[in-house]
This record gives sequence, C-alpha cells and structure tokens, in this order.
Amino acid sequence: MALKVLMAATGIIFVLFLLFHMYGNLKVFFGPEAFNHYAEWLHQDLLYPILPHKGFLWIMRVTLFLCIVVHMYCAITLWVRAKKARGDAYKINTGKKVRPSQTYTAATMRWGGVIIAIWIVFHLLQFTVLKANVGAENYAALTPYQRLQAGFSVPWLWAFYLVAMCAIALHIRHGVWSALATLGLSSRTRERLFKLCADFVAAIILVGFMTPPTMFLFGLL
Ligand code: HEM
Repeated sequence: MALKVLMAATGIIFVLFLLFHMYGNLKVFFGPEAFNHYAEWLHQDLLYPILPHKGFLWIMRVTLFLCIVVHMYCAITLWVRAKKARGDAYKINTGKKVRPSQTYTAATMRWGGVIIAIWIVFHLLQFTVLKANVGAENYAALTPYQRLQAGFSVPWLWAFYLVAMCAIALHIRHGVWSALATLGLSSRTRERLFKLCADFVAAIILVGFMTPPTMFLFGLL
C-alpha cells in the first residue's frame, strides 16, 4: 500500500508540473519576445528574491528527479510482486505454470513508461543541454523561441513528440484514475466521474502540448 501511495503522490507532482509546463509553452502564442522573456524568467528569476537566482529551477529539477526515481522504483517493485502473486495463483488454480496474463492497460503503462523515459532523455538533450540540434546547426546560438521553431519544422521530430505525448496522455489517463482509487477516493458510484476526470486531464495535456509544435510544423507560428 505504501508503494501505491508513493506512486500516486509522485504522479500527482508530475501532473502539476506538466500542467504548469504546458501552460507556459502556450506563451508562444504571444510572440517570440513574450516567450523568450518567459523562458528567461523561468530559468533565472522564478520566486526571486525569496530564493536566489535559479533557486526555484534547481529545487524543481531535484524534486522531479527524485520523483522519477521513486515512481519507477515503486512501479517495478509492484509489477514484480504482482507477477509473482499471479504466477502462484495460476499454478494453484490450474496445476501447471501459466505465463501471467498481461492486460492491455498494464502493457500500455509499461511500454508507455519506456517510451516516455527515452523521450525525456532526448527532450532534455534538445532543450536543456542543447546538444540535440534538430533543424539547426547550433541551438545554443538561438533564442528559446527559435529553437522550437527550428525543431518542429522537422516532421520526424514532430512525430516523435506526438508519439511521446500520446504515451504520456495514456499514462496519465490510467494514472489519475488509479491514484484516485489508491487514495481511497474511489467508489462504484464515483468511478464514472473519476474516469471522466482522468480522460479530461489526459486530453488537456495532449492537446495543450501538441498545439504549439503543430502550429510550428505548418508554419503558422
Ligand atoms: C510538446 C511538448 C513539449 C515542448 C514543446 C517542451 C518544450 C520545452 C522547452 C522549450 C524547454 C526548455 C525551457 C527553457 O530552457 O527555456 C523544456 C524543458 C523541460 N521540459 Fe519540456 N516540453 C514539452 C513537453 C514536456 C513534457 C511532457 C515533459 C515531462 C514529461 C517535459 C519536461 C521538461 C523538463 C523536465 C524540462 C527541463 C527544465 C530544466 O531543467 O531546465 N517537457 N521543455
């Protein structure tokens, strides 16, 4: 139970971060200057002078990193436990060892998790470390807005982000629902409402994140 609560708690932190990040990205609609100014503020001055320059950025980075480690540790431990438990149950029921069934959702969560992990490494290389210079020679010489414009004018990058955002949306859809169940908020009557709530959050994340890259792809920004 403790593992499930930890997964739910770290998952909620991710969703809050994602909503914040997605909302921030929508600043591109206010033009290059507004977006570049926002990116600068986010990096240097968020919560300044309560915190030193870049203080919030580092708190956020460390928090997200710890959350990823805890979330993955809990996921793998729970998966191994469930696999063992199911394996034993099948042996008792049928008298022979049967490979544990893999539900569609469990497979989506696992493979989705792998795709998301690979994509996050790429994403950080592209926009934080500035070493994956897709669509331009040298990202470090560009403004944050120009990096988005250069990157998303390349169709395969847009497609890669689409796959990753779909994986994230599916992950969140299941995650939000099971977090509500784990935290004891679920009941038969509320189940439909929670599923709807999970669908809604997933749809907002998918559409909200993919709108700016799609506009860049079609030259509308
Ligand atoms: C279409 C979707 C996305 C776009 C266009 C996008 C864009 C960006 C950009 C431009 C930055 C650099 C900000 C800056 O340095 O000025 C950034 C940083 C970051 N993004 Fe995203 N992002 C997207 C989705 C996501 C998602 C889904 C996640 C999490 C799973 C995520 C996690 C991060 C993290 C952790 C950073 C690093 C912040 C830092 O340490 O500097 N991004 N993103």
